[in-house]
Order: sequence, then structure tokens, then C-alpha cells
Amino acid sequence: MGRFDEICERARRDPQGFWAEAAREIEWFREPEQILDESKPPLYRWFVGAQLNTCHNALDRHVAAGRGKAPALIYDSPVTDTQRTYTFRELRDEVARFAGALARLGVVKGDRVVIYMPMIPEAAIAMLACARLGAVHSVVFGGFAARELAARIDDAKPKVIVTASCGIEPKRVVEYKPLLDAALARASHAPERCVIVQRDRAPAELTPGRDVTWAEAIEGAPPHPCVGVAATDPLYVLYTSGTTGNPKGIVRDNGGHAVALRWSMQNVYGMQPGEVYWAASDVGWVVGHSYIVYGPLLNGNTTLLYEGKPVGTPDAGAFWRVIAEHGVQTLFTAPTAIRAIRKVDPDGALRGAYDLSRFRALFLAGERSDPDTLEWAQAQLGVPVIDNWWQTETGWPIVSNCLGIEALPIKPGSPTRPVPGWQVHVLDERGRDTGPGVTGSLALKLPLPPGSLPTLWGSDERFIASYLSAFPGYYNTADAGYIDADGYVHVMSRTDDIINVAGHRLSTGAMEEVLASHPDVAECAVIGVKDPLKGEVPLGLLVLRGDCARDHGEIVAEVIAQVRESIGPVAAFRQAVVVERLPKTRSGKILRGTMKRIAEGAEYDVPATIEDPAVLDEIATVLGAGR
Ligand code: COA
Ligand code: AMP
Repeated sequence: MGRFDEICERARRDPQGFWAEAAREIEWFREPEQILDESKPPLYRWFVGAQLNTCHNALDRHVAAGRGKAPALIYDSPVTDTQRTYTFRELRDEVARFAGALARLGVVKGDRVVIYMPMIPEAAIAMLACARLGAVHSVVFGGFAARELAARIDDAKPKVIVTASCGIEPKRVVEYKPLLDAALARASHAPERCVIVQRDRAPAELTPGRDVTWAEAIEGAPPHPCVGVAATDPLYVLYTSGTTGNPKGIVRDNGGHAVALRWSMQNVYGMQPGEVYWAASDVGWVVGHSYIVYGPLLNGNTTLLYEGKPVGTPDAGAFWRVIAEHGVQTLFTAPTAIRAIRKVDPDGALRGAYDLSRFRALFLAGERSDPDTLEWAQAQLGVPVIDNWWQTETGWPIVSNCLGIEALPIKPGSPTRPVPGWQVHVLDERGRDTGPGVTGSLALKLPLPPGSLPTLWGSDERFIASYLSAFPGYYNTADAGYIDADGYVHVMSRTDDIINVAGHRLSTGAMEEVLASHPDVAECAVIGVKDPLKGEVPLGLLVLRGDCARDHGEIVAEVIAQVRESIGPVAAFRQAVVVERLPKTRSGKILRGTMKRIAEGAEYDVPATIEDPAVLDEIATVLGAGR
């Protein structure tokens, strides 16, 4: 038995012993009384009775251990032409001061703080300051518009919102203050105060009595010590797309999260303290939470916060420049970023200019890694390219090649085998295991390991209904796939209406809600269609009201603008077509899957339950003409 198999077996046989041992890597203010509370299935809690502080483990403990002068965070911003390195001591001091500022604004343990920020160090500082106080942060991705921000504000009910005056996209400056004001005008909940980082590119006009600048907030603020919290207390809530326009608040606890992330940094990513780790993502996504901020710092790594894109800031060599300049050992990004680089620089001409000798591995996640992209990256970089599968909900990889344990052979198209601690099953509709090679629902046997979501914010019932009821005793990932004869997992598609656009998780249901609100639209459907760069892009199909005599082009332009306005530019909703009717089953269910196949030019069967097969020909004609 290889080392990997041995560790999997140990984690399967004695999960509590396994995670109790991993928990020794964390400094506890009070040790756990119980490793796993199994008294209320299907809800489980890890490290009950323990007290800790996540910020202490990410920063203070490294300073106390004599690593205060080691670099903790490197900010590299090609869009502002800025670079800055914070040592562990400097970052600890900045975080303690901002925690003091938040405390002066009335934030105490358990309060929520919404963070709506671009990729600047203050975003990470604000997150860690909340952790220091035991306050619960909820970061909202900057590419979401006011309506999405408002929905999150109403659910999390923050005491304070931390934002910046603007974000900087390659082709435009995104002013955040008008978005914040629009969100607050929409939301029923009002925060007491807003803290705004003023950026030179576009300073914001403050709302008197409500807004304070970051500089004013920290002026004279006393550094705040780390507040002990229960391992089971929430560290953050991160909203993610569900099947409706109502996002789900994924809860992360403090104890399980710290244990799992530190373990994953060493065992999945193979990182030793002191090495440089770069997750080229955004703090608004789970990858940013786990692997820009918490994971690397908990493990004593230097983390890189990059405010730029894979291409265009200034060119497709940007990633290779950052790796060379900062001695990055491991990069984590989405396959779409690699596809974007390949499109501009297919022969890797720009890579040759940089010394990548310290670079060890590239990890890809967020969407399926197509073998072609993976093999291209491997040939260009000459290092292992590791696909890993996980979700906002799980917080860290479910399936990955664990470089820190034992590198297994890579099979392009598969993220390899389940990581120790996760038990992955492929189930048919009746909840029975399918055999090797047979596709079904990917489900995870309960209890889930530490670090995965214990519940949804404010609703155990919604958590159970959304994830735990389809297959009793299992968490339903809503991904479909199969396990091959070698035990390798293949993740093929979602079983719900979530699509992945450039590695960003979006709900077609939420887009349909926006389209349906247009006065001329009687009925609509949004489907994800294959795209060579972004993996998938949304396509809207509109059925207009019978009395509508308006120009179709105008209506299409209006709904495109409406989605951008309501959900945000990140939805990349740029295509819609008008059709006479939508194909439906006799019970009235819209046949989205069949339309997707038609749109992608794939073979399709006419479903036996279809109400009128002629509709499929109409759709094919419209999509053929429109594409
Ligand atoms: N704030 C404001 N707007 C944002 C934003 C942010 N943080 N992030 C993206 N947007 C906007 C973009 O400016 C763009 O607007 P536009 O319609 O005016 O051009 C729109 O949202 C779509 O952005 P994106 O999907 O990023 O497409 P793109 O064509 O600008 O860039 C890539 C394509 C591949 C370069 C880019 O998607 C990328 O870097 N992807 C990596 C994905 C990633 O890191 N995923 C995280 C999960 S690991
Ligand atoms: P998110 O919650 O934004 O991380 O998105 C999670 C979803 O992205 C998963 O449920 C999958 O559908 C998809 N996904 C993430 N990583 C992979 C991967 N390595 N292979 C296939 N799909 C992936």
C-alpha cells in the first residue's frame, strides 16, 4: 500500500483520531472536549468545547515564534503599478489596528461585517480584523451589482460595511460608492457605519454621519487583541449562487476551518512554512478566502495578492512575471485563466523571458479542467498541473492529487482521487452506488470532514433541504460524474441550473428572474452554452407577450443591460434570442438540457415526454440563424 492509500485508510477507519492529530497543528486557547459531536445527525460539529482565534493562528503565533520579519503578504498590482510586502509583524499590526477601529465603531464578537472590496491589502486586513474580533465577515465579490449586494446585506445584517472608492478593471474604473448607495437604498437592513478606502484613481464622496474613510477609522485606534471564540462559532458567511435568485449563505466555523486548511496546505498543496503560495483568484470567492488569505497564513506561507488579470495587465506574460519576481512555488488559478493566456500566446513566447526555476506546481480548480488546457500548461511549464475539485460549501479540495503526501499519476480530465477525509460516492436516482465508470450524482458520505459547511446562515432547515435530503446520510454536491476502475473521480457537469462562467459560479435561475421582470417578456429560459475561453456563457431565450410589437433587437439589448445592472458584469450575459415558444414536457417543465444541446450543435434525442416536438426545430432554426 502506498503512502496515499495508507493515509486514506487511516482517515476512513478513525476520522476522529485522524483530525485530532491534525488539530495539534493549531494553537488552541482551550483544547477540544470532543472531536466530533454526532448527537444531532444530519448536523455535525467538529472540535466542540475548544476555543481559539483564527487571526492568532494566521499571524500572531508566527510573530511569537520569531518569524515576525518573514514576508506574510505580497501585494502586486499591475493596474496601479504598485508592489508592497508586509511582514508577519507588519500585517499583524495593521490587522490589530483595524480591529481596534472596528471595535471603536461598535463591532463586537458575533456581529457581521460586509466587505465589498477590490483586490487590495485592506480587503485581507479587514477579513483578518474581523477574525481577530470574533466578528463574522461576509465578503461580496466586486463584480456583483447593487441588487446582489443588497440581498447579501439583508441576509447578513451587518453592523458595518467596509468598501473602497473604486476597483480598477483593465478597461475601466468601477466606482463602488454608487453601487453601495444603490444597494443600501434597496436593502431593508441599514448598517450603522461604512468604512471606505479612498483610492487616488477615483475618491468617493462620503455620506455624512454614515461613512468614514479607512484612514480616519484607524487614526489613533488602539490595537485590539485576539478574542477567543468557540471552535464552532462562525468565522465567515460567504454567499454563493443557489438555484434561485436567493443566494445561500455558506457558514464556515473557526476550528474545523483552521485545522482543515492548515492540513490541506501541507498535504494537498505540499507547501512548507516560508514558501510562497499564490492563488490568482479574488477574495470574493471561496478560493480567495481559503487560499489567498487563510490557508497560506495559517501555514506560515507568504501569500500573494494580485490585482490584475492573466492577460492585458500588461500582457499574457503577467503570471510568469509574478512567479519569477516573487519566487512563487505554487500557483492556483482557474482553467479559464490558462485558456486566456494560451489564446494570446499559444506558443508560450512570453514565458521564456522569466526564470521559473523555483516554480513547482500549478493547481487548477473552479470549473472542469479540459485535458487540452491541462496538457498545454504542462508542456509550457514543465511542472505537474493538478486539477482539484471542490465547492464554496466544502471550503477545501474534495478530490485532488495530494502532492504533499504522494504524487499519483495524472489522468487529464480527472482531479485524481478523493482527498483523505472525504468519502465520495456516485449514486443513482434511488441512492444506490453505481458501478465503476457509471455516471451518477456525486455525493459525500456524512459526516463531512472539518472545514466544510456546518449549516447555512440562519437556517438549518434550508441546509438540510438543499443538500442533505436528496440522499439520506449523504451531502449532495449537485455535480454529476463517475469513478473509474482506478478510483479516479471524473466530474462532468452540474445537476442543477448553476453554470460556471470563467470560473465564476452563477445561477441561470437568477438570470431568468431578471429576464422575466421585463414588461415585454412572457416566458424565458437561460442556458449555459460551451465557450472556448470562459468554459460556459449564458444564453437567454425569450418568448414575448402576444401584444408586443416592438423591435426584437431593442428588447434583447434591454434585457442584456438589465442583467448587467441587476446581477453584475461578471454574469457575462451578452446573448439572447427571441423565440415563438419554449420546448416543454407535457407537465410544463422547460427542456433546458435539450436546448443546450441544440445550441452547442450536439446530437440530441427528442424527449418522450415532450409536448410538441416541432418546437425543437423552431429553436434550432433560431439558434442556427442567430449564431
Ligand atoms: N469588479 C468589477 N467588475 C469585474 C470584476 C470585479 N472584481 N471582475 C470582473 N469584472 C467585470 C469585467 O470587467 C467584465 O466587464 P465588461 O463586461 O465590462 O468587460 C465582466 O465582469 C466579465 O469579467 P470576466 O469574466 O473576468 O471576463 P473578462 O473577459 O474581463 O476576462 C478572463 C476573462 C479569463 C481574463 C477572466 O475571467 C479571468 O481572469 N478569469 C480567472 C477566473 C478566476 O480567477 N476565477 C476565480 C475562481 S478560482
Ligand atoms: P464554487 O462554489 O464557485 O467553487 O463552484 C463549485 C462548482 O464548480 C462545483 O460544484 C463544480 O461544478 C465546479 N468545479 C469546481 N472545480 C472543479 C473541477 N476541478 N472539475 C470540475 N468542476 C469543478
